[in-house]
Amino acid sequence: MTIWNLGSINADMVYALPHLPAPGETLAASGLEKFLGGKGANMSVAAARAGSRVSHIGAVGSDGRWAQERLTEYGVDTRFIAEVSSPTGHAIIAVDAQGENLIILYPGANHALEGGQIGQALASANTGDLLVFQNETNAQVEAARMARELGLTACYAAAPFEAEAVQAVLPYLDFLILNEVEAAQLQQETGLSAAELPVRHVIVTLGSKGARYFQQGCDPIDFAAHKVQAVDTTGAGDTFTGYVLAGMDRGMPMEQAILQANRAAALMVTRHGTADVIPDLREVRDAQFD
Ligand code: RIB
Repeated sequence: MTIWNLGSINADMVYALPHLPAPGETLAASGLEKFLGGKGANMSVAAARAGSRVSHIGAVGSDGRWAQERLTEYGVDTRFIAEVSSPTGHAIIAVDAQGENLIILYPGANHALEGGQIGQALASANTGDLLVFQNETNAQVEAARMARELGLTACYAAAPFEAEAVQAVLPYLDFLILNEVEAAQLQQETGLSAAELPVRHVIVTLGSKGARYFQQGCDPIDFAAHKVQAVDTTGAGDTFTGYVLAGMDRGMPMEQAILQANRAAALMVTRHGTADVIPDLREVRDAQFD
């Protein structure tokens, strides 16, 4: 099976700061590093590192060929990444001494996917493949509709969260992942709790507390997070999602996929950086936690 990922590709400029800046504050960074990032690219790399075949659908500018090449090096099929006239997306990421972050996004090429690009890619999809998308590209509704028409499992990682964006794709979804604050916001908009959403699989992530899994018609199941010393939480959620999707793609029971994803996310928060430092399956399986 293949995981098709309509996803963002960013250059992540990561600044190490003593604390996250307050409005009006000028703050000197003690370090700057550049990584491959974007919630989409992070999920593609995570799923590929977890052993899945991943085909990324996205866009970069002419300044983003390095990102496309890096995705290829990480085992992601990049044939459906278009080069467009907008500059490649980027993110300014501030990470404080506790590992918390603040992200400013410039979407650039991520919002310039061309008409027909998704159809062209999904012409090679097979029934039962997964299609995942997030809220950092254009064409999400088109992708969701197409997934339904082609018999693909439609998966949405609702980040960055916008209730309207979730509602637009909700009727097409088989899988939804969002955090607890977002689940509460969505409930305010729709009147539906996570358990009541018309989606077969819903995962609500709970940060350092773990995750709660809702399967339609069943009682929710809680998964505790591993206790680790976090140095950078950026990309940990994307790593979790990529590993869950890889587990689904390989036919694992959801509980097993979530347990593995929990391990991957716990390792990820002990590392500085985004796509380039996502752990592979061997590291995830070998990791020792308290
Ligand atoms: O979730 C982390 C990601 O959010 C970063 O890689 C950044 O590019 C933004 O998309």
